[in-house]
Amino acid sequence: MTGFGSYAPGVFLLGLLLPLQLGAKDSCVECHAGLEGNLTAPTQAFTSDVHQHRGFRCVDCHGGDASVDDPDDSMSPRRGFLGKIRRTDVPKLCARCHSDAGLIHKFRPQQRVDQFAQYQTSVHGKRLVAGDAAAANCVDCHSVHDIREVKDSRSPVHPLRLPETCARCHADAAHMAKYKIPTSQFEDYRKSVHWEALARRGDLSAPSCASCHGNHGATPPQVQSVAAVCGTCHALFEDLYSKSPHQPVFAGMGLAGCVVCHGNHAVLPPSDALLAGPSAVCSQCHEEGSAGGKVGAEMARGIASLEAALKRSGDLLGVAKRSGMEVSEALLQHHEGQEALIKARVAVHNFEVQAVNQPVSDGLKIASQTYEAGQEAMKERRFRRAGLAVSLLTIVATMAGLRLAVRSIEGKPKSAADG
Ligand code: HEC
Ligand code: HEC
Ligand code: HEC
Ligand code: HEC
Ligand code: HEC
Ligand code: HEC
Ligand code: HEC
Ligand code: HEC
Ligand code: HEC
Repeated sequence: MTGFGSYAPGVFLLGLLLPLQLGAKDSCVECHAGLEGNLTAPTQAFTSDVHQHRGFRCVDCHGGDASVDDPDDSMSPRRGFLGKIRRTDVPKLCARCHSDAGLIHKFRPQQRVDQFAQYQTSVHGKRLVAGDAAAANCVDCHSVHDIREVKDSRSPVHPLRLPETCARCHADAAHMAKYKIPTSQFEDYRKSVHWEALARRGDLSAPSCASCHGNHGATPPQVQSVAAVCGTCHALFEDLYSKSPHQPVFAGMGLAGCVVCHGNHAVLPPSDALLAGPSAVCSQCHEEGSAGGKVGAEMARGIASLEAALKRSGDLLGVAKRSGMEVSEALLQHHEGQEALIKARVAVHNFEVQAVNQPVSDGLKIASQTYEAGQEAMKERRFRRAGLAVSLLTIVATMAGLRLAVRSIEGKPKSAADG
């Protein structure tokens, strides 16, 4: 190797002192700490790297000999020096340790050692093997030289940071141009109920990119498995959908279950508007007057009527509570009514009117009872108010009477003295 001209001996000596504290000599760090740009950056970054914390050094990935200062020797291929790792060689390098259960489990007994195996089944892995360096390799997702534990919130694979990590390529039209796949996943996902739950409400059970695509096996879920992907979290919905008349027809048409109606990346808050009216998803396939169209319209009517009834009784109970009336039991019951509404929305996925009508009628019964309870409370309040007014009047009258009486008592001797 040649061209060590820019290298400063003073800094070299400083670098020499640093690793002495750690014991073994590390000529790689000593020398690279005094270099510039890309050659020195790894030494700084490496202080926050999980591998450094576990006692690994530059040579564990790059090879070479850290005990000699002569760069030609230290970085000689004869000493196993690999140089800068080529992109297509990275996964194999990481796998040398990460597929070795004996080694990894010494550090972390339950750790998975299938990352490389999984990776090879992914679109990324297959492309890379075919020589396409534009596909993601291990360091595109985990970074390099400052690799952190995956649970660390600063790690690029942490659920909150992962969308941006994937977006570096997938939202970059130039990078993805030759593949002719959409580049809108990031933008769409950021509008979704899932990102909303994850980022704004801190709900880590909501999916980030890898929850649906897998950590290392990144492939789009196949048409047949989409419902199962969503169903890992929405099990009830998957169960109903898979027994519904749509499951076999959608599968036969090559349509991807839940995604047909909810989308994949831009899953928006669902509402009755999906069932009937101008933005109904059903109308993509069912004419308004057809069997399917009628079912949609009827389900929407049922759900809307329950929603309205619950709102009416909920509002009334709210007013009663704010004016100090005891309505806690009715409020509990109201909560059950709201659960019936949730059940009705789940039951939509049977795609049968009867399945929705059952919870709707249960809920309507509850709503009418709680509305009555609210009216009772308000009646009681009016009664108490009237009672209060009467007692107030009585008190005022009594006080006025007393005052007159006092005056007349006080007034008598006074007028006698005047006379
Ligand atoms: C005495 C200084 C010195 C020592 C010791 C040294 N390096 Fe280097 N290293 C350099 C310089 C200068 C370059 C850039 C010159 C070049 O690429 O020809 C470089 C380049 C590299 C590169 C990038 C190669 C490329 O192809 O871009 C890697 C990786 C590297 N060193 C790792 C190591 C490792 C690992 C060790 C220890 C085994 C080590 N170095 C020891 C000075 C040193
Ligand atoms: C866990 C494995 C690993 C360890 C440990 C490691 N490196 Fe690297 N290093 C890599 C990989 C992989 C690349 C190629 C990164 C890429 O493609 O961007 C790389 C690239 C480099 C480069 C080339 C940078 C460039 O942009 O051209 C240098 C220099 C380097 N490493 C030096 C070091 C030094 C010095 C250490 C110790 C402080 C170190 N590395 C520790 C894996 C490692
Ligand atoms: C497309 C992005 C991506 C690529 C490529 C990738 N990883 Fe990961 N990796 C992840 C995600 C996401 C996690 C899980 C993070 C979490 O648990 O929150 C993860 C987790 C890990 C873990 C922790 C243990 C585990 O399996 O959960 C290790 C170790 C790991 N990856 C190593 C690798 C290695 C080695 C490679 C290359 C063969 C690689 N990764 C390639 C995204 C990636
Ligand atoms: C010389 C062996 C070795 C090499 C090479 C290696 N690792 Fe590791 N790595 C380990 C060990 C040991 C641990 C600690 C065990 C653990 O936490 O899983 C670790 C931890 C990790 C973790 C943290 C896992 C967690 O639990 O959060 C990630 C991520 C990781 N390595 C990624 C990589 C990537 C990416 C590469 C390739 C650039 C790589 N490793 C190369 C040995 C290695
Ligand atoms: C370094 C750039 C890069 C990063 C980072 C990256 N990818 Fe990719 N990804 C690609 C390329 C290139 C392809 C190949 C596209 C193709 O063949 O259609 C691809 C393909 C895919 C595919 C298959 C698409 C298809 O239908 O062919 C999925 C799914 C995917 N990536 C998901 C992810 C996820 C999720 C992440 C983050 C965890 C991620 N990718 C990170 C570059 C990247
Ligand atoms: C809620 C699950 C889910 C999440 C979260 C998710 N995806 Fe997807 N993704 C899918 C499904 C399902 C498909 C393809 C199946 C379909 O729509 O027919 C897909 C397809 C893709 C494709 C193939 C090209 C395309 O758009 O059809 C890429 C690339 C991709 N996703 C990347 C990402 C990235 C990057 C993220 C994070 C920003 C992400 N996905 C988040 C479910 C998800
Ligand atoms: C990793 C778990 C997970 C996966 C996978 C997942 N979701 Fe979700 N989903 C959630 C969580 C958590 C919420 C937020 C629930 C809330 O609002 O309280 C949610 C919310 C929703 C909502 C809005 C519910 C509401 O009441 O507003 C819909 C619709 C939805 N997901 C559909 C899907 C579809 C379709 C898929 C597959 C493409 C999917 N989900 C995959 C966990 C997941
Ligand atoms: C044929 C269209 C269609 C399919 C397929 C479908 N859904 Fe729905 N989904 C709807 C409609 C319509 C609503 C809204 C009902 C309402 O609010 O009145 C909804 C509502 C939801 C909700 C919110 C329920 C609530 O409490 O507000 C979730 C979560 C959900 N669907 C998940 C899924 C999952 C997971 C799948 C796949 C297993 C799926 N859906 C398949 C049409 C569909
Ligand atoms: C992507 C197209 C598509 C969408 C969207 C869709 N359906 Fe269907 N639906 C079908 C097909 C195809 C059948 C089977 C028709 C048959 O077997 O004659 C079907 C069957 C039905 C059936 C059984 C009765 C019948 O017509 O055979 C009902 C009820 C139904 N759908 C209701 C709905 C409702 C409600 C929605 C909206 C929430 C909806 N569908 C959305 C395509 C769709």
